[in-house]
This record gives sequence, structure tokens and C-alpha cells, in this order.
Amino acid sequence: MTEPGAPPLFRTRITELFGIRHPILAGGLMWLSDAPYVAAVVNAGGMGFITSRSSATLPEFEAQLARCRALTDGRSFGVNLSTSRHTTVPLMTYLAAALDHGVRFFETAGRAPADDLIAAIRNAGGVVIHKVPLLRHAMTAERLGVDAVALVGMECGGHPGANTDMPAMLGGAIAAGRLRIPYAIGGGIGTGRQLLAALALGADAAVIGTRFLAAAEVTAHDAYKQRVVAAGEDDNLVAFAGNTPMGGAWRVMANGTAREIRRRQAEGLDGFDAYADLLKGTLSRDACYRDGDTESGMLSMGAAACFIDRVEPMAAIIETIIAEAAACRARLDRLMPEMAAAIA
Ligand SMILES: Cc1cc2nc3c(=O)[nH]c(=O)nc-3n(C[C@H](O)[C@H](O)[C@H](O)COP(=O)(O)O)c2cc1C
Repeated sequence: MTEPGAPPLFRTRITELFGIRHPILAGGLMWLSDAPYVAAVVNAGGMGFITSRSSATLPEFEAQLARCRALTDGRSFGVNLSTSRHTTVPLMTYLAAALDHGVRFFETAGRAPADDLIAAIRNAGGVVIHKVPLLRHAMTAERLGVDAVALVGMECGGHPGANTDMPAMLGGAIAAGRLRIPYAIGGGIGTGRQLLAALALGADAAVIGTRFLAAAEVTAHDAYKQRVVAAGEDDNLVAFAGNTPMGGAWRVMANGTAREIRRRQAEGLDGFDAYADLLKGTLSRDACYRDGDTESGMLSMGAAACFIDRVEPMAAIIETIIAEAAACRARLDRLMPEMAAAIA
């Protein structure tokens, strides 16, 4: 474990951009990245993003912002804005509310952020990181003027979208030669070994979702967290693989709802209406996260669940990841004795 007060282990373009201690971004989580979750990440030295889409009304969203501000003791935190065409909340209104509450860090995901969105964030002195599943989308976002991009691989929990072929480590290595702005990579990352590998291949941070799902500060039923703890690398599946009218791939816990989706797909059912009863976001929010029925709802989750072996505070998870990265770095030094001696 790193000593309290010790200098940070890593300094990257993303730790500088967000003013954070560790190169760890906790990507927005529908229903789950609320004020306590985001505050826990921020207080542990990473950056977290409140999902604006999880608040059905503006007052609810503003209450989350106020609560997070109180819990973070003046530290900066972020907001996730969905630029998807399916988003039902008014994006610019929610952005204005976040800016009014002093939020300056934004993770956008969905379609390329529009000029007026980037301008509104920039004019307020804010920073925007746009999350994409494909490198060509990252390059478009760079051209549009975002500050950084997060590139997620096909293995990510949630929506790898049109990315059904490109894993994070490969996409991230290719990105090093194509992007000029800072970038994070995500998808399947749950250990310090992977964090170090991400930094080694050129990325400035890791985006993590699944590995944090059983954190003590996640507002969800204990039965859900225990199911995540028990999950191995094979306990997820991709629904709607490929470019479907449903908006592309979605990696979720392999539960009753996900298997029923697969069954209907195998029957050739097409179009939103054929799946609407299973896709209701409130099914995951109410039946599973609130009431603990883990067979119900599309529960975004990736293979990194296999790295979780208990419910514990976010600070302990992040400390473990950073300590692992340090141990991994020491291992590399041992594998390269002559170089380590030359550097020393
Ligand atoms: C439960 C869950 C919900 C998610 N919801 C969102 C979301 O609302 N918006 C978003 O941009 N990304 C969402 N994601 C994706 C994460 O922000 C992140 O990109 C992803 O989890 C990284 O891959 P990993 O899960 O393998 O770590 C979600 C992921 C999970 C696991």
C-alpha cells in the first residue's frame, strides 16, 4: 500500500487534466454512478462522473450534484452526459445546471458531441472527455475539439456499440500512433497489471466500470453485489451483437432477462417493440438494484467482474489497483536488470 502523503505513483496527461492523484476514471454507470459512488471515487484519488440520465427530473439531478459536492469536501467531480439520440433528458439544460453547480469535468458518450456542447463546456473553463468504442470516432472527436477521449474495447461492460471486434489493448496500442490528445482506454480492466499495461502502450489512464460494481458505496441491493462478487469471466454475454436496430452490442450479466433476449434473437424477432418489456431501464433499477432480483433487468457488466472477490470500500479497491501496478513495475525492473541498474 502507498504511504499516506507519498507522492503519486503516476503523472500523466490525464492526471494533470483532471487534477487527480491516480490515472483512474470511473466511467458513468446508469442508475449506479450517483453522488455517493462518484464521491467515493473522487475521494480515493480518481475521477468519477454522475450519470445525468439517471435523474428523471432536473431537481433530482441538482440534488445529486449538491450531495456530491458535500461528500467531496470541495474536490472536483464529473458528470456523464449522454449524447445518444435515444436520450430522453434535455442535454443542454442538464449541462447548464451542472455548470451552475460548479462542475467542470464532463464525460460524454453516444454521438460525437455537438459544437455548442463543446463550446458551452469550454466557455465555462470546463474539460470534456468523449467516450467512444471505435478509434475513428475518437479521431473525429479530436477534430471536433474535445480535450481527451476514452476508447473502450469490445470487452467493456455496457455498450461497446459498433465495436464487436476490437479489444481495448489492441485498440489502445493503435491509438498511440493516431491520437494527439490524451486518451484513456477501458474494457475489462480490473487490476493494476492492466493499468500499467495501458500506460505502457501509450494511454494516459484507465476507464473502469465493472471492477467497481461491488464497491461498498454503490447504491444497490446486497444480493446484486454478492452476485457480482461470485461472477467469473464467463458470467456475462453480449446481447444485440453487431449493428442492430437496437443500437448495437450490449454486454451484460448473463441472467434471465439477458438469456430471454438471446432466445428472442434466435427466433429472429426484430425491432424495439419485440424487446421493449425486457429493456425497460426501470426493470434493472427497481427489480434488481433496489430489490435484489438479479435475474431481472439488463445489468451492464463485463468480464472484469472476475477480479472482484468481496464488497469493500472504493478507496480499498483503488489502493489495491495502484499497489498492484507498483508491484508490476517492480517485476518489470527485475526482468530488465541491466536497464534498472542504468536508470538507478
Ligand atoms: C452497470 C454499468 C452501467 C453503465 N452505464 C453507462 C452509462 O450510463 N453511460 C456511459 O457512458 N457508460 C456506461 N457504462 C460504461 C462504463 O462507463 C465504462 O465505459 C465501462 O464499464 C468500462 O468497461 P468495464 O466495465 O469492462 O470496466 C456502464 C457500465 C456498467 C458496468
